[in-house]
Amino acid sequence: MLENNQISGVVNPTYPTSYNHAIAAASGLETLALGAARIRVDDKRIINCRADLNQLVPFKYQWAWQKYLDACANHWMPNEVNMSADIATWKDPQGLSDDERLIIKRALGFFASADSLVANNLVLAVYRHITNPECRQYLLRQAFEEALHTHSYQYIIESLGLDEAEIFNMYREVAAVHNKAAWSLPYTQSLADPNFHTGDTASDQRLLRDLVAFYVVFEGIFFYVGFVQLLAFGRRNKMTGTAEQIQYILRDESMHMNFGIDVINQIKLENPLLWSKDFQQELRDMIHAATQLETRYAFDTMPRGVLGLNAGLFTDYMQYIANRRCQQIGLQDLYPGAGNPFPWMSEVIDLKKEKNFFETRVIEYQTGGTLSWD
Ligand SMILES: [Fe+2]
Ligand SMILES: [Fe+2]
Repeated sequence: MLENNQISGVVNPTYPTSYNHAIAAASGLETLALGAARIRVDDKRIINCRADLNQLVPFKYQWAWQKYLDACANHWMPNEVNMSADIATWKDPQGLSDDERLIIKRALGFFASADSLVANNLVLAVYRHITNPECRQYLLRQAFEEALHTHSYQYIIESLGLDEAEIFNMYREVAAVHNKAAWSLPYTQSLADPNFHTGDTASDQRLLRDLVAFYVVFEGIFFYVGFVQLLAFGRRNKMTGTAEQIQYILRDESMHMNFGIDVINQIKLENPLLWSKDFQQELRDMIHAATQLETRYAFDTMPRGVLGLNAGLFTDYMQYIANRRCQQIGLQDLYPGAGNPFPWMSEVIDLKKEKNFFETRVIEYQTGGTLSWD
C-alpha cells in the first residue's frame, strides 16, 4: 500500500533501497489533500506522474480517450452470434476433416486461456504503472473486452459440445500451445512484483519490455496464426458463427495492440534515454524469438495443407507481421522484404461494424436471456 507521503517524494523505509528512487509516482490511492491545486495538463505524464490520477480531464492524450470511445462504439456480445450452422457442421461426421477439427481445437485451446493471461497482465501488472487517467480508462475497457473474448471461447466450446477440460487445460497439456503462454508469463510476473516500481532507466525499460511482450508480441503476433486459420473457415462458408466472433475479436485485438503501440511510443517520446541501441537490440531479439515460436505453432497445428493454407505460407506471414510490428514501434525490420500471403486479413481488420462479414449475427440486441440455438 502506498503511503500519502510518497506523493511528495519522501522515501519510505519499508521499500528496498533500490526502489526508493521511484516511489514518488502517483497511484490514485493517496489520501486526499483538502485545498490541493487543480490539475494542469502539463502535469500529466504517462509513467512516473505525480499529479492526481482520479481526474480524467483535462485530457493530455486525446488518442487514448478516442480509442476508449471507439472501443465502446464497437461493443458486441458473443451470444448475439448464431451458432446453429457451426453446431450442424461439427456434429456431421462429413462436416469437417480431421485436420480441420485439429486446427479448431488447437486454436480454441490457445485462445481460451490466452485472453485470461492478457487480462491478468492488465489488471495485476500494467495498470498500476500507467499513471494517466485517460489511458487507465482505456485499460479498463480493454480488460472488459478480454472478459468478453474469454466468454466468446466458452460460448463456442459449449455450443459445439467440446470437452471443456481438454480445451481449457490445453496450455498445460500441448507443447505448441503451452510454449507461447509460458513464454509470456515472466514478463507479467516481473511487473506484478509488489516491490517493483518505475522511476529509473532499468525499471522503466522493464515496463517497456512487458508492454512490447504483451501488446506487440502476444496480441500482435501470437494471435495471428489462429486468427488466420479460423477466419479461413469462414471464407469457405464453414464454421461461420465461430469465424464471425473471431472477426469481432480481431477488430478488438487490433485496437488493443494499437493502443499499446501508442503507449510505448509516448513513453519513448517522454523518456528518450530508455530507447538505447542495446535496448532496441534486446527487443528485436525478443520479437525474433516470438516469431519463431508462432511459426512453430503453425507447423504443429497444420502438419498438412488445409483450407488453402500451409505452414510455409505462415513462415512468410509471420515474418511480414514481425516487420510490421517492428516498424510500428520504431525498430528496424527483422526480415527485410518479407511479403504478405494473406492480404485479405487487412480487409477483415478494417471491417466496420455495420458490414456483417459472415452474415450470421442476430440483428436485434437480445436482453433478458441467452438465446438457444437447439
Ligand atoms: Fe482478447
Ligand atoms: Fe486484447
